[in-house]
Amino acid sequence: MRRPPKNGNGKEYELVYPAKETGKKIVASIEPAQLEKIKSFGNTLSGSNLLVRGENLSALMTLIKMKEKGLLKNADGTHGIRVIYIDPPFATNLAFKGRKNQKAYEDKIVGAEFVEFLRKRLVLLKELLTDDGSIFVHLDWKKAHYVKVIMDEVFGEENFLNDIVWSYGGRGAKAKAGQFSRNHDIILWYQKKTHLFNQIFTQKRIKKGASGFREDSEGRWFKTSPRGDYTDSSIAALKKEGRIYLTKNGSIRIKYFLKEDGDCLIEDKLIGDVWDDIPDAMHISEDEKTGYPTQKPEALLVRIIKAASNKGDIILDAFAGAGTTLVAAEKLGRAWIGIDSGGLSVHTIETRLLGLNDTKDPENPKKRYLKPLRPFSVFESVEGCCEKDSGIKVRSRYLIDEKTNDCVIKIEGFKSAGASGHEALSSVMVDFNFDGDVFNLHKFYSAKELRETGYQIRFPLSMVKGEVMVIYSDIHGNERWYLGEIV
Ligand SMILES: C[S@@+](CC[C@H](N)C(=O)[O-])C[C@H]1O[C@@H](n2cnc3c(N)ncnc32)[C@H](O)[C@@H]1O
Repeated sequence: MRRPPKNGNGKEYELVYPAKETGKKIVASIEPAQLEKIKSFGNTLSGSNLLVRGENLSALMTLIKMKEKGLLKNADGTHGIRVIYIDPPFATNLAFKGRKNQKAYEDKIVGAEFVEFLRKRLVLLKELLTDDGSIFVHLDWKKAHYVKVIMDEVFGEENFLNDIVWSYGGRGAKAKAGQFSRNHDIILWYQKKTHLFNQIFTQKRIKKGASGFREDSEGRWFKTSPRGDYTDSSIAALKKEGRIYLTKNGSIRIKYFLKEDGDCLIEDKLIGDVWDDIPDAMHISEDEKTGYPTQKPEALLVRIIKAASNKGDIILDAFAGAGTTLVAAEKLGRAWIGIDSGGLSVHTIETRLLGLNDTKDPENPKKRYLKPLRPFSVFESVEGCCEKDSGIKVRSRYLIDEKTNDCVIKIEGFKSAGASGHEALSSVMVDFNFDGDVFNLHKFYSAKELRETGYQIRFPLSMVKGEVMVIYSDIHGNERWYLGEIV
């Protein structure tokens, strides 16, 4: 075979734009972020789930160092991340806001700068994968084609697995005059060297007697498909199992028996690369909605995680947003790492994880998810990604109720940047024995609970073992930490 001609970089073809750095230079030039553990939810040990607030480039470099030290270990003993899902900004040139008009994040990097922004992260993400790990990159029509070329360069064309079309339906008002409505996203799937794949089926219900479905003499319902490339010996084996159907003109078809449910048949259908059975986040249940913009449906992440990982594997989302990946990973028994630079994102994720119980169970759609939340830690980049003076002012009274021997915190006034009054208060978290360093959650009070109790928090005095740290969070995700003087 004639060898294809190559350019000066030894490549047959590549995407060219100004300020494109070499992969080696990217890895050599990025300093790892210094991450400081600020909160722990449950009894966190090394190896527990991680949520990082910070710029993801330097945080990814820190994770690479952790991988090198053997600190990112899957249940089967392999080192690194098994599945990465990222849903980065899409170069929309927009500023995204939460349901209550809070600032969420800006998507202002466009053009070649956007491609290079993503490429740098992809170079590091590849380093983090296990050899049989894989990455899903969620994009839309604006940049998917450029990023496909970039991913071919970073991962190798031979490691491309699928471009999944997530067709979320014609419900979005995206129809533009003079062109077809845009109602799908693209998810590019690449492996590092090999990959795990668990086939996923969906179930379709069909009325008994529908065309193409037959009942045999033993009362079993079946449908048939052409012989395809089955060999004669395979056909003989299938015949012994009663799985051969002869048409009137004598051609061989293969029988597939179907499950029954009353007057319906249940057909298991293998999922292909067009996913049109998962509606967008506007059409998810109320208890799944977080109010964070660009939230993706949990069902999408459940499918991705189930397909490409096993229980105990580590799943990473470096653009975590509302934490959909982390929630799906948690419910499916995978370990997880989430990174996001936004305060609203991290606050949304914490609140969402703490309210996970009694939401939808992805393993059993008719049941609720009732497992305790596994421990996780929150880290912050020391480099100052995060605003320290939150502008929150709280007027609380800390009392002891002599009759019940309860500690009582009465939140009488609350003010935060741009909003004041109790409506601006999003949650309160309490550590009954603050160690002077890391906040350890003992009690969480959601906005709903606070409203219902008239903004009064009560807990038995016996629970207080040392200094009490109280974290007040506003609807923007800003926090104010108070060392409460109760005893
Ligand atoms: C499209 S949203 C992700 C939504 C998420 N998939 C979900 O289901 O909620 C993108 C997220 O990336 C975060 N982000 C953007 N640039 C970042 C960066 N350089 N480092 C860390 N996070 C970043 C934004 O704050 C935003 O939350």
